[in-house]
Amino acid sequence: MLPRRRRVRTRSLDDAAASSALPSARFPGVAIYLAEPRMGRSRRAFLTRLARSKGFRVLDAYSSEVTHVVMEQTSAQEAICWQEHMTATSPGRPHPALLDISWFTESMAAGHPVLVEVRHRLEVAEPRKGPSSPTWMPPYACQRPTPLTHHNTTLSEALETLAEAAGFEGSEGRLLSFRRAASVLRALPGPVTSLSQLQGLPHFGKHSSRVVQELLEHGACEEVERVCCSERYRTMKLFTHIFGVGVRTADRWYQEGLRTLDELREQPQRLTQQQKAGLQHHRDLSTPVGRFDAEAVQQVVEAAVGQALPGATVTLTGGFRRGKLQGHDVDFLITHPEDGKEAGLLPRVMHHLQSQGLVLYHQYQPSRLDDPTRLTQQSHTMDAFERSFCIFRLPRLPGAAGGDPLEPYPAWKAVRVDLVVVPSSQFPFALLGWTGSQLFERELRRFSRKEKGLCLNSHGLFDPEQKTFFHVASEEDIFRHLGLQYLPPEQRNA
Ligand code: UTP
Ligand code: MN
Repeated sequence: MLPRRRRVRTRSLDDAAASSALPSARFPGVAIYLAEPRMGRSRRAFLTRLARSKGFRVLDAYSSEVTHVVMEQTSAQEAICWQEHMTATSPGRPHPALLDISWFTESMAAGHPVLVEVRHRLEVAEPRKGPSSPTWMPPYACQRPTPLTHHNTTLSEALETLAEAAGFEGSEGRLLSFRRAASVLRALPGPVTSLSQLQGLPHFGKHSSRVVQELLEHGACEEVERVCCSERYRTMKLFTHIFGVGVRTADRWYQEGLRTLDELREQPQRLTQQQKAGLQHHRDLSTPVGRFDAEAVQQVVEAAVGQALPGATVTLTGGFRRGKLQGHDVDFLITHPEDGKEAGLLPRVMHHLQSQGLVLYHQYQPSRLDDPTRLTQQSHTMDAFERSFCIFRLPRLPGAAGGDPLEPYPAWKAVRVDLVVVPSSQFPFALLGWTGSQLFERELRRFSRKEKGLCLNSHGLFDPEQKTFFHVASEEDIFRHLGLQYLPPEQRNA
């Protein structure tokens, strides 16, 4: 038994923890009320503790602050009656969502409030909706979770092909339309099996809908087939996948009649050093980098960084941070807890790596952080951090599987690696910016600009009216400043 004074203090701490106005609540837009009738007091207390331990705000009493009412084993009819009863004294106020326990358990598992879907709602207006009913979806990719594996691969890949082809023709608008539509499909909770399911979904114009319709009805889309077979698309894809080659260069080569890698190799005077290295290692660089390779690269980078500046850290970012098992390169952010210590670090890191024979090629780009205009620019790729674009010579583990069984197994593999050095005060922004996906980043920046009037990039979040930067300690803080539900990296595969 605790001494009396101690007992009193413990209780008051418990009361503070139970308070609905916990400043530490991670999801300020969400206030949950667990409706008791069918739930039972002890289960309700258990679920309350669970949710609060994960940073959710759970209110003890029903009030106008409640945004999500959660019920268990309750019919929709009962739920509506309950709500009418509870809100009888405050008519006209918007009602919170009435949700089945499934929304709650999924949110606990995800560690954040999941998007409310039709299947979570307790509603009696219409008979229970089947799997083909339209789903509501917010328009910006940063407003909804997009997992890595989803239910509409064939459809989204077809639209991605058309997006890519539009990009090759310089049609940025069409590229974005197809890409956004493809991304909506990746965020859907189930497969699209009939055209009616597209009703009400954002970014589905005539063209994207027609592509989906053809695929659903015939299993193939004539336009996509035609694009994939065309010499133009195939050559542009081949050229733009070379390290150091963008759409404009690829297009110039195509217009000049070039079609193959060998033709490019025969004209070295046309090529930059980067492109020469890209062509030289083309076979390895066009094979995906696996997770094991990424981890092996991380180890050698960590060792070199540790030698160059003790206390500095290395963070794997890009697609691998989103949970991808393969990528076209490996992206790292390097920082040091003390702002400024990281300056000039990269040449020393590169020196360590080179002295071990681990670098086949690298292009160093010094920091341009002292140019303040760069920090408030709205660009979706170019930032001002010190960085190296590298090709690593990654030794293969003896006995590792893979390769052509008829050829001697090579002792090393060329791997594309990006090293980026970031001051710790900008780290959360750089991490958010470099985690991607690329469309997620574009949408996040567009959302910030159009909906919030703020400029977001990998350096900061800038208010152009007040001429101020926001200070943040984490990615979560950035989502919070933008009024967005936090999405973990594995839900940013837009
Ligand atoms: P990547 O092009 O590496 O894409 O850029 P990825 O998602 O990792 O996919 P793969 O598997 O390698 O193909 C990662 C993120 O870094 C940003 C991009 O916008 C993307 O979101 N990035 C990339 C920059 O901010 N600046 C750059 O110079 C390059
Ligand atoms: Mn990458």
